[in-house]
Amino acid sequence: MPRSTRTVDLLLLGASEVVTLDGGTGPKAGVEAMNDLGVLPQAGVAVHRGKIVEVGPSLELARKYRAWRRILCRGRTILPGLVDAHTHPVFAHMREQEFALRCRGATYEEIFAAGGGIHASAAHLRDTPLDVLAAGVRKRLDRMLLHGTTTAEAKSGYGLSTKAEIKSLKALARGGREHPVTVVPTFLGAHAVPPEYKDRRGAYVREVIDEMIPRVAREKLAVFCDVFVEEGAFTAEEGLRILKAGLRHGLRPKVHADEFRDGGGAKLAASVGAISAEHLGGTGPEGIRAMAKAGVIPVLLPATCLFLSLKRPDARGMIEAGCAVALATDFNPGSSPTENLHLVAALGCTDLGMTPEEVITAITRNAAAAAGVESTRGRIAVGRPADLLVIDAPSYLSIPYRLGTNLTHLVVAGGKVVVERGRRCGVKRS
Ligand code: NIG
Ligand code: FE
Repeated sequence: MPRSTRTVDLLLLGASEVVTLDGGTGPKAGVEAMNDLGVLPQAGVAVHRGKIVEVGPSLELARKYRAWRRILCRGRTILPGLVDAHTHPVFAHMREQEFALRCRGATYEEIFAAGGGIHASAAHLRDTPLDVLAAGVRKRLDRMLLHGTTTAEAKSGYGLSTKAEIKSLKALARGGREHPVTVVPTFLGAHAVPPEYKDRRGAYVREVIDEMIPRVAREKLAVFCDVFVEEGAFTAEEGLRILKAGLRHGLRPKVHADEFRDGGGAKLAASVGAISAEHLGGTGPEGIRAMAKAGVIPVLLPATCLFLSLKRPDARGMIEAGCAVALATDFNPGSSPTENLHLVAALGCTDLGMTPEEVITAITRNAAAAAGVESTRGRIAVGRPADLLVIDAPSYLSIPYRLGTNLTHLVVAGGKVVVERGRRCGVKRS
């Protein structure tokens, strides 16, 4: 007996499972929480005015709601839209030539020290107009969306001058304007010391502190301030000064920490109350304990480790110490040229020893927490913006299992269907 009382904008029915990631507050920390995905079998989702209005058994939803648009998922799986908690999408060129050099034996650090790497990207970016950069950002956001990513933290850091860093953050804002992917901007002026400051690095640190940070904050161009703490980049002491300056201007700290070796980056992140510490291949037990105690979210980047043959971070040690681990692509032209979180999830299992449930938590709810949007993104729950991913498989297990295959079938962002049968829809194509 139909008791249709309400008409909603969109009804997704007939999923083999809805992976809600719901329950409790904050990120999921530790073994038990990270393995609990809140899976509802034979379920669906009702969406109205951009928000989730009900999640539950498909048959019940079908009885209860009429819908302007009804989509039958036919045994596929519904997950929260994926969250990429660490990306660098503002740059002018890819760096295939460096990859070719590395294939012939050069190392990433040698290329960087010889003026390539981040320096090469900065030289190109400085010569590239803002609108061209913004178009590049948009193209990369499009590709993320095609992989089911609906929120991305995105860093500047290829400008390395006040002018070029501001241009980068404006390009990010322009590229992300009215795009279905929600962008969370991070200022990373302290990504490398530019060549013109080679012999006076203190002056560059002062420019970051006295000019860039106040301007970024005044123009509301970023939410977070990040620093690359590593030999050849910035010391922990310089990082601390920069992050404290960011805090004084309302920018929450993040740290690129211990990517190549333990340089005290994780401990620095804990001492300044950073929301996250990212990379962490070199982080030892002390750094892990410090992060767990301070509630710093480790954002691990296994595609970067694979691409540069780096030591893998101790994901198991972190989860067992009670951390809320997140995974991200680190999308950038040098160390991780992929927007594909499905591949990252697979590597989380194969290379970092995480369980399938842990990697799903790490690219949704915990990633949302690392990007500072846990209260609105990363889970399927009533009242939240409807950012949803439907994969072409009967279980979330297929995401890590299919080793980087993009299983994205349908994406809903802010309640609108933006990807259908794996293709962008609802936009005019030029
Ligand atoms: O997160 N580690 C520092 N920065 C980037 C890579 C930058 C580049 O090579 O362009 C990263 O891996
Ligand atoms: Fe990075």
